[in-house]
Amino acid sequence: MDHFQYRGGILHAEDVPLPEIAAQVGTPFYVYSSATLERHFRLFEEALEGMPHLVCFAMKANSNLAVVATLARLGAGMDVVSGGEYRKARAAGVPGDRIVFSGVGKTREEMRLALEGGIRQFNVESEPELEALDEVARSMGLRAPIALRVNPDVDARTHEKISTGRKEDKFGVPIARAPEIYDRAAGMAGIEVVGVDVHIGSQLIDLAPFEAAFLKVADLTRELRARGHDIRRLDLGGGLGIPYARDNSAPPLPLDYGALIRRTVGDLGCEVEIEPGRLIAGNAGLLVASVIYAKQGEGRRFLILDAAMNDLIRPAMYGAHHDIVPVQEAPAGAEVMPWDVVGPVCESGDTFARARLLPQLEPGALVAFRSAGAYGAVMASEYNTRPLVPEVMVRGDHVAVIRARPSFDEMVNRDSLPEWL
Ligand code: LLP
Repeated sequence: MDHFQYRGGILHAEDVPLPEIAAQVGTPFYVYSSATLERHFRLFEEALEGMPHLVCFAMKANSNLAVVATLARLGAGMDVVSGGEYRKARAAGVPGDRIVFSGVGKTREEMRLALEGGIRQFNVESEPELEALDEVARSMGLRAPIALRVNPDVDARTHEKISTGRKEDKFGVPIARAPEIYDRAAGMAGIEVVGVDVHIGSQLIDLAPFEAAFLKVADLTRELRARGHDIRRLDLGGGLGIPYARDNSAPPLPLDYGALIRRTVGDLGCEVEIEPGRLIAGNAGLLVASVIYAKQGEGRRFLILDAAMNDLIRPAMYGAHHDIVPVQEAPAGAEVMPWDVVGPVCESGDTFARARLLPQLEPGALVAFRSAGAYGAVMASEYNTRPLVPEVMVRGDHVAVIRARPSFDEMVNRDSLPEWL
């Protein structure tokens, strides 16, 4: 459920009609609903109620300061994957002891930054990284809390590009080698072992791969404890999928996922961390665009929007489906027709949907892409020298621009000419 509903035939974000926002900021723009963000975070809180736990929002899904601050106010932790995300989390008021640092290639500077500013744990992905962290922490007179990210060799059965838990993927250390690496870590003066970490992929629409991975982590935890390691935290990653198409069979709910966590690792008495990104932010955001032209091609009808692949890259990159709806609801029984929905960027990959059934839409009409709150704005670029798409947040009938569209001067002045030109 989200808070983008039609009222009187006009799509609203909470209590605000979208055409009002379009008149204020122009199109295209992203709009987020605070109520939806909060609701989704609370679903995970409820799912893990009664277990010691921390829900760490995966900031890579949406790192706008206002989104992070909205969740931080509710007590969310953050899963960060760069020094930039770490800094943003701190700027949004997240204390260091609620920040988990993930990522396959943390630099020494990033390690130093997080150790200086405070960190809950590093999720370490390789032995060279472990050695580097040990060195950095010792040079600061500190011990870095770590969980080793293990690769359980489980197929998440999701899109090839977002599957991370098979042995051929670049992530984590092979689970069979983990005990030996933990033994090494225990002998390092700059390292404090606190837990085990796993993340097998994103947009999982089935719980079975999670179950297989969590059971392997549970076995490993018992083995590590038997070897004398104080494993007190399990970071189970993110990855729970969302319904992108309304007609799809619905993915499992956070409550089912929570029950699975209890069933697989609940008896270990560990504090559980999870790192959901998409499920919290995905359906809390829309991308709103205007129709520039409706063009009749050779046997195809093209709807040319002012949003493009640089604003929402998921369809071009993963062949992802996003529902596209007119902001002004078509009257009941209105004729629909197949449209190829495209952007103005100069490549055929700039196609959002093929033969999508929509009513007749005239230039100037507004359309909304649903489920665009995660991996939307954060993956946007200025390709074709198109300004970075702005972001707006709604709370009830309040509207705030949380990232303004850059002016042309700002864009151009970021470049500079070498002295010989
Ligand atoms: N934790 C780790 C270590 C991750 O790598 C990810 C996502 C998450 C948590 C959050 O996963 P989520 O709950 O959002 O599924 N750009 C792609 C998704 C890439 C996901 C990368 N890692 C897309 O648009 O589908």
